[in-house]
Amino acid sequence: MSKTVHYLKDYRAPVFEVRKTDLHFDIFDDFTIVKSRLLVNPKTAGVPLVLDGSAELLSLKIDGAAADFVLDTENERLTVNDVPSESFVIEAETRLRPSENKSLMGLYASGGNLFTQCEPEGFRKITFYPDRPDVMSKFTTVITADKKRYPVLLSNGNKVDGGETSDGRHWVKWIDPFAKPSYLFALVAGGLAVTKDSFTTKSGRRVAIAFYTTEADKAKVPFAVESLKHAMAWDETRFGLEYDLDVFMVVAVGDFNMGAMENKGLNIFNTKYVLADSQTATDADFEGIESVIGHEYFHNWTGNRVTCRDWFQLSLKEGLTVFRDQEFSGDRAGRAVRRIENVRLLRQHQFPEDAGPTAHPVRPASYEEMNNFYTMTVYEKGAEVVRMYHTLLGEEGFQKGMKLYFKRHDGQAVTCDDFRAAMADANGINLDQFSLWYSQAGTPVLDVSGRLKDNGGFELTVRQTVPATPDMAQKQPMMMPLKVGLLDKQGTAVEFDYQGKRATEAVLLLTEAEQTFTLGGVNQAVVPSLLRGFSAPVHLNYPYSDDELTLLLAHDSDEFARWEAGQTLFRRAVAANLAAIENGTPLPEHRGLTAAIRRVLADTNLDPAFKAVLLGMPSESELWDGAGNINPQHYHQARERLADQIARECLAELVEARTWALAQETASGIEKPYEYHPQLAGVRALLAAVRLYTIREEQHAKVAAAAYDGEQPAAPGQTVCARLQDFISRYEQLTPNMTHEISVLNTVNHLEEDGRNRLLERFADRYADDALVMDKYFVLIGSSRRSDTLAQVQTALSHPKFSLENPNKARSLLGAFSRNVPHFHAENGSGYAFIADKVIEIDRFNPQVAARLVQAFNLCPKLEPHRKSLMTGQLQRIAAQKDVSKDVGEIVGKILAQAGQNAA
Ligand code: TRP
Ligand code: ZN
Repeated sequence: MSKTVHYLKDYRAPVFEVRKTDLHFDIFDDFTIVKSRLLVNPKTAGVPLVLDGSAELLSLKIDGAAADFVLDTENERLTVNDVPSESFVIEAETRLRPSENKSLMGLYASGGNLFTQCEPEGFRKITFYPDRPDVMSKFTTVITADKKRYPVLLSNGNKVDGGETSDGRHWVKWIDPFAKPSYLFALVAGGLAVTKDSFTTKSGRRVAIAFYTTEADKAKVPFAVESLKHAMAWDETRFGLEYDLDVFMVVAVGDFNMGAMENKGLNIFNTKYVLADSQTATDADFEGIESVIGHEYFHNWTGNRVTCRDWFQLSLKEGLTVFRDQEFSGDRAGRAVRRIENVRLLRQHQFPEDAGPTAHPVRPASYEEMNNFYTMTVYEKGAEVVRMYHTLLGEEGFQKGMKLYFKRHDGQAVTCDDFRAAMADANGINLDQFSLWYSQAGTPVLDVSGRLKDNGGFELTVRQTVPATPDMAQKQPMMMPLKVGLLDKQGTAVEFDYQGKRATEAVLLLTEAEQTFTLGGVNQAVVPSLLRGFSAPVHLNYPYSDDELTLLLAHDSDEFARWEAGQTLFRRAVAANLAAIENGTPLPEHRGLTAAIRRVLADTNLDPAFKAVLLGMPSESELWDGAGNINPQHYHQARERLADQIARECLAELVEARTWALAQETASGIEKPYEYHPQLAGVRALLAAVRLYTIREEQHAKVAAAAYDGEQPAAPGQTVCARLQDFISRYEQLTPNMTHEISVLNTVNHLEEDGRNRLLERFADRYADDALVMDKYFVLIGSSRRSDTLAQVQTALSHPKFSLENPNKARSLLGAFSRNVPHFHAENGSGYAFIADKVIEIDRFNPQVAARLVQAFNLCPKLEPHRKSLMTGQLQRIAAQKDVSKDVGEIVGKILAQAGQNAA
């Protein structure tokens, strides 16, 4: 495929409007006929009409007469040179073969039913259309199909009519009263069961709620329905936003490229984010459902009522909507821990992206394949950018900005600049410099120093640098909020003067490459608490001593800063282990860190969920961030050895915490059926975090007698696995609880003993008919550190429940393997070769999924020479495939360019 790069700077407003879009779908067993009728209005006379489309075109008419057109199949574009200068009607007829469509974009079949996915450019696979978000039109959709095979026929808006025809077929007509871009179009047809409910808005309108699933999955829908009602109520109270149609529909489908899609009035969801019950879903699954249901619902205003002018502006809707779903989850439960989880996600996945070959600004300046830009940067860093407005303006100022944004732009397709202007104008401030967050990629670095001045006052000096990225060498300093506080040597908050106020916390406004701030009226030694709440998405360095970090960890009133102090201690300890491993010297001791962990474990005032995140070590991808010449296995070993050391030094406290957590759960009714509950989820998270340490010590010392979960001493000679098997079977007799089951399996998953295999097999047998639980099984196989993992992954490819064509399955097994540091980065290159094979295979039918998987190779430019050359070889092999997709081609091209190699 030829390479076309699209640039933001080339944006031109559309020259035609589509006043009305009437669609007619005739569904048959082997194909579907789509007839479209567009009422087109030229904005300037004498320009050719250009439509996007790649479907099989049967006919094209203008005002009822055959049209004279040029079809450019390479660029999926149709041009009609002579069109009337006044309004005209264009009619196209296309034939689709949904059961042959494995890309899961456009109209496709899954489990015998039909679904669509149009964002960003899938509508052109259905019919010929100006498939761009700034062309908004009112849609009417008529669907006809066999009544038995396709009893349910859905599209956007309200169902207004329907009937039967003599041949066993039936039809329905849907009208969406809101103008929308083509990417928000949706259609669903098939045999689906419905779960109904309703919600009454604050102005008293009754909205019908309908969730569509298979009959068998109906029992797993109630939690998602409740989540939706919570989301609808929350958007009214926090943002003053009400739902605007008479019906809100959600459809769950097992084959789906991403999490979910916000089609107007007809959200389509990956089953993973709808279905859950108390036997098969973990606490994390329930939390994921609540947040994705919220996310898609919130898009109704931030995305649908106000949409994007062009795809470069994607973060306008995604960054804002992620911010909104994060706030929803935070308001629902555990704000501080949710915030830390968001930061962890950002550091684990977005920071590496921002420092790698595919780095791009929140608003990219160019793309080859838009599907490649649904990234951590656009979503998660985009949400941090929105959060910075919130931090700078406060809740009230931010809400004023939102009000003005909707007042100005409801019903429009707009840009990130329009959003920024609304925030600035509503608050009467200048946010011009803030626009750099949309145009400069790379994670800024803040180097901070502090000193107590002779005449009193604590002075902070902040130097700001933004690293070069492949798209841009020189960067300008950004505007950002830096939230700070001060602690005295006992850990008590210290008051200071800043901008005429005396307080214990302030938000400093950074705008320059170097700035000095004085927190006045301070006359004692203090420890600064910096970047509270992670007030900006940056790296921050401050020359803390280990003792100062320990003090912050123990006493800071800001949970993020507290957690961060612990993370810095972990990072320092791993770095020291790494140096020892690379120099062949004995591992250092980490007395300060282990003492701090023991105190955390013993602190009865700490919330268990918070304790659990405090115990979590930074992942490898965070640890090697910023490094070069990386040997991933050394990082892995350094981290593993630190975990061993912690387990050994803190065993007594770990076991005590485990006993406490188990007792909490028992007290709250372990005999009762498991139910998701945020408080208990925190207890279970602590249990899981502790297990990951205790297993090491209990295995290494071969003392199963230290008793798995402290319930019963093991029989002499009983192996860890036998002990676990015993534990699980007794546990199962009590009550099924997937959170525990997965936590236990995660713990034993790395053991070489055969008992581990038996446990996993038993798990797979028991849940063979539950696709979402089988995904968990494939994750376990792909993420094991056992020596035979690659062989087990290869065997799993032919497991009867595995399918490469199902994205959830591919992501579970192959995605997990590609993040499995010791195996993916095996020194002999077997991990790289395996993933490259699968990328090539998947790319032939689903480029979007293949392009995600190939990003496992993003680390290439930073690897040590041996692995770098192995990876380069695999990337060149992928690039040399004939018919490599635009999606994979773009990513591979960027990695090779950065690694100093040319694509073959
Ligand atoms: N807009 C969707 C969301 O935020 C995600 C999305 C974009 C998507 N493209 C997709 C989902 C393709 C499935 C397939 O939630
Ligand atoms: Zn979204």
